[in-house]
Amino acid sequence: MAKITYKHPGGTVTVVDLDAPNTVMRGAKLNNIDGIEAQCGGSAQCGTCHVFIDQDNTLPLPEMDSVEDDVLYGTAVPRCDTSRLSCQLPVTDALDGLVVHLPEAQS
Ligand code: FES
Repeated sequence: MAKITYKHPGGTVTVVDLDAPNTVMRGAKLNNIDGIEAQCGGSAQCGTCHVFIDQDNTLPLPEMDSVEDDVLYGTAVPRCDTSRLSCQLPVTDALDGLVVHLPEAQS
């Protein structure tokens, strides 16, 4: 189980407990968290599950592959150093305490 925190641009914070198998994207959809569209359903094609990992993160995240890297160049809000596709972040116990920030728009 991992506690994942989603921070919205307006300041709202939503914290959910997630079990594997899930992704950070799926956790948002399951819990009706606005700000994640996930139009492609999690296949790293649409870029509408864009999140910014908290700047203070020290948790081990999976490496970004070239597909995710390419898709992040086409997101509605420009990527930054902490950008990830939340559908490419599997939930494991190691992600307990992860904080992600939601962009202003996804499309
Ligand atoms: Fe489409 Fe993540 S859900 S890229």
